[in-house]
Amino acid sequence: MNSSTQSIVSRTADAYDSVPYESLPFDTAQPEHLAAIAVLLGMTPVPLTSARVLEIGCAAGGNLLPFAIKHPQAHCIGVDLSERQIRDGQAFIKQFDVQNVELLAMDICKAGDELGQFDYIICHGVFSWVPADVQQGILAACKRLLSENGMAYISYNVFPGWHCWEIGRHLMYRASAHIEDPKQRLAVAMEALRVFSEHASDSPDRPLRQILKEGLKRIEGQPWYYVLHEYLEPCNTPLYFRDFVGHCASNGLRYLGDVQFSSMFRENVASGEADTFIGQHAKHRYDEEELFDYLSGRTFRRSLIVHDHRQLNLAVEPSRLNTLFVSSTLHRVNEPVSGDAVTFRKQNNHDYKLKIRDPMGIAILDLLSAHTPHPVDLPTLLFEYWTVSGEDASKKTDQDILQGLDTIATFLLSLLKKDAVAVAFQPVMATNHISERPEAFALARAQAIIEQSWVCNTYAQVVPTEPIMKALLPMLDGTRTVQDLLAAKQQWLPANEPKQHDAASVLQRNLERMCATSLLTR
Ligand SMILES: C[S@@+](CC[C@H](N)C(=O)[O-])C[C@H]1O[C@@H](n2cnc3c(N)ncnc32)[C@H](O)[C@@H]1O
Repeated sequence: MNSSTQSIVSRTADAYDSVPYESLPFDTAQPEHLAAIAVLLGMTPVPLTSARVLEIGCAAGGNLLPFAIKHPQAHCIGVDLSERQIRDGQAFIKQFDVQNVELLAMDICKAGDELGQFDYIICHGVFSWVPADVQQGILAACKRLLSENGMAYISYNVFPGWHCWEIGRHLMYRASAHIEDPKQRLAVAMEALRVFSEHASDSPDRPLRQILKEGLKRIEGQPWYYVLHEYLEPCNTPLYFRDFVGHCASNGLRYLGDVQFSSMFRENVASGEADTFIGQHAKHRYDEEELFDYLSGRTFRRSLIVHDHRQLNLAVEPSRLNTLFVSSTLHRVNEPVSGDAVTFRKQNNHDYKLKIRDPMGIAILDLLSAHTPHPVDLPTLLFEYWTVSGEDASKKTDQDILQGLDTIATFLLSLLKKDAVAVAFQPVMATNHISERPEAFALARAQAIIEQSWVCNTYAQVVPTEPIMKALLPMLDGTRTVQDLLAAKQQWLPANEPKQHDAASVLQRNLERMCATSLLTR
């Protein structure tokens, strides 16, 4: 590592020591998600129960914790340059006696074989913010530390989309470079962006004003620590997708696929002449995917990589869904008039609409909708389908079952390619019902005690908390009945709460919310 890289590395460590990153979980960077995508791409992932997981640039370990808590026999190691972030994470682990997570303050480039081999390596939000030598160090560490059947996840900023964003970042970085104090520096950087988004050129051949305006919109409302690190770190080096693939290859690694499964399919990105052009001129899937980036202006990628000697079998067969679990947030918006298509809409993205005409497809989506957000395996779906359509499952032959599974898998694969459904590698330990003795996810119970305005649910998603929910969560360890909770209302219901007299309905509402946000495990 040359002295300029060394100096950037120590500045990076100082930057995260002085302004730590909020250590969040990311559902699509969890081994459960990586394993599910790998199955679709023809791999046999290492079982999760006793997997070894490494996170590079783990901050305070927030992304490792949900996996570690759900898989007590697994072992997780997180490394990060910032001693302060690692200390914060270690304090949490000690306070709540988490036995299977180790956090180490170190530069990943110096990680030796003594760390052991890992089945899953996660490197989220790091690769683009380190110098080129460190990028090589990350890939070299992946090669050295990845077990034979392991897989690594690396996210990074990509061109050409980032070319637009770079204009605003360079302006912010340069206009504020003379200021030491991080908060003051950010204020000046934001002011630069605001001023220039009003006054920069708006001529059609140099539409800087428009680009900066969009940049400002993207940043406004984001937490300040995030904007500071995203835009004002000395390094922010996006790259073209094929260059990333090339760097992987020169480190003995190979691109397996994208964790956003639908992004790999041409029909989702290209149409008309662009579709024809890509069909004629892309000689390899890497060329094709890079051309998708030109079409969509994509700015961020999350790639799965494996050892380069692994054989790939990328023809995605419906049968690959047979061992997975499928979920959907689609809900129907109209009742079917006989023979007409039914429109489904995503719960969390109302712009996403899907029209289904086939009665079996409609029934399957209704069934998935009843399980939302939890994933269901295909045999269960088939059985439920037969039940709702009045067929006697006990009379079905093995042939009927195979045929039924194949039909459902083919339908669901077509939806998966359109991002209409999601897959999971295993069932999730969340419940759709409030039990007599409600139990909340152990990590959320622990996080509710510390000074933090959110907790992590069983899907490794962030759920914002309010005071009543924060006070209730630690009590939901499965030992107290709803009556016990009501009897102890002084512990969770503030004395000045206007609904003091109606504690039962406040409790019910909070339990329902926890259930709906996948915080309850029982
Ligand atoms: C933008 S933060 C991302 C944190 C977390 N992965 C996330 O996405 O929320 C980048 C992290 O990478 C760490 N980092 C940067 N260079 C590193 C290196 N050479 N070795 C280990 N960690 C590094 C930083 O200290 C910082 O915590």
